Amino acid sequence: MDYKVEEVLGNYKLLRYPKTTNKSLRAWSNAELLVADYVKEKNSETVHVFNDRFGVWNCLLNEKRITTIWTYASQKKAITYNLELNKLDVEIEYKSPLDTLKEVDLALIKIPKSLELFELFLQQIHKSATSKIEVVCGFMTKYFSASYLEIAANYFEEVSQTKAWKKSRLLILKSPKKNEYKSLINEIEWKDTFLTQYYGVFSSGKIDIGTRFLLDNFKMKSNEIKVLDVASGNGIIAYDVLEQNKNAEVTLIDDFNLAIASSKLNVLSKKTKFVCDDTLDSLSEAYFDLVVSNPPFHFEHENNIEITFNLFEGVEKCLKVDGRFVLVANKHLNYKTYLLKLFKVVGIIAVNNKFVIYECLK
Ligand SMILES: C[S@@+](CC[C@H](N)C(=O)[O-])C[C@H]1O[C@@H](n2cnc3c(N)ncnc32)[C@H](O)[C@@H]1O
Repeated sequence: MDYKVEEVLGNYKLLRYPKTTNKSLRAWSNAELLVADYVKEKNSETVHVFNDRFGVWNCLLNEKRITTIWTYASQKKAITYNLELNKLDVEIEYKSPLDTLKEVDLALIKIPKSLELFELFLQQIHKSATSKIEVVCGFMTKYFSASYLEIAANYFEEVSQTKAWKKSRLLILKSPKKNEYKSLINEIEWKDTFLTQYYGVFSSGKIDIGTRFLLDNFKMKSNEIKVLDVASGNGIIAYDVLEQNKNAEVTLIDDFNLAIASSKLNVLSKKTKFVCDDTLDSLSEAYFDLVVSNPPFHFEHENNIEITFNLFEGVEKCLKVDGRFVLVANKHLNYKTYLLKLFKVVGIIAVNNKFVIYECLK
């Protein structure tokens, strides 16, 4: 393993979607390059790729028959963007992590931050694995822990690691064990019910304390009917909106397909719309009376406030004049300066030692 990054990347150009001004954020990691180099000579007919966040494998391994298991709407856009940039065919086969796969004999995973999501991927692979299956997982050593090995060992007899290359390493899994599958759905107690969510969706064991603070302090007004829940996760905010007013017409939007799939299990009103997207561009302008959110600022191992600010701009566009945007945020993020650039009034509904709830008027 004495090759250089440029040798693996060759003439391929890979850029980030969404674009960022942060020059330290790249569209590829050494872990993904290490995987690509390891599998390029393998003569497996098909390859299933998981968490190919910006399309590195879809580009570098384009000569193979790839099935991409997608998790984020922004990931699909990034893959298309990079395939076009490299003048490659953009017609690729997508499956969701909940789909049944055809025979899998080579699978690539960029290990996600969420252990639960890693397990969900492994279970999906295991269910369709052939006896000669090889699962090649790439990771940056600073993000790895023994817990990933424990999960892998529940599904595969052979679990081995390669030597490190530029702070990255491979975990290779072979020989699927005979398994009883456990349910990969969490149940969270909330008021007099249980909310359910697939493994990997935000705040798996309990309701997030920021969200709880928001819901303890937020009251809808009687004229707020058209409501948008931005970055909706398991749908708890939309669920609460409908508890407050069962006539509300709620739209939920989240970038993560398992979040949207989970919210469909929790928010059952027939008037509800579910949108899997990373921007609000597809929503009608000046349409909503109220937007409520616990917005994201962590994206896997990165913090990227630019994405949060883009969502705020989208909120401003799709709110009616005099409409309300209520959001909870960690106090240290200090969103007020930015919100004041977009909204005519930015007030505070409640604050505690960790969180603040802003109320913005368009
Ligand atoms: C802090 S969580 C809030 C989830 C849920 N509302 C709650 O309170 O439990 C943020 C959510 O933002 C989603 N997300 C991340 N980037 C996004 C984007 N660009 N557009 C929409 N949702 C996004 C994540 O998938 C995650 O579900």
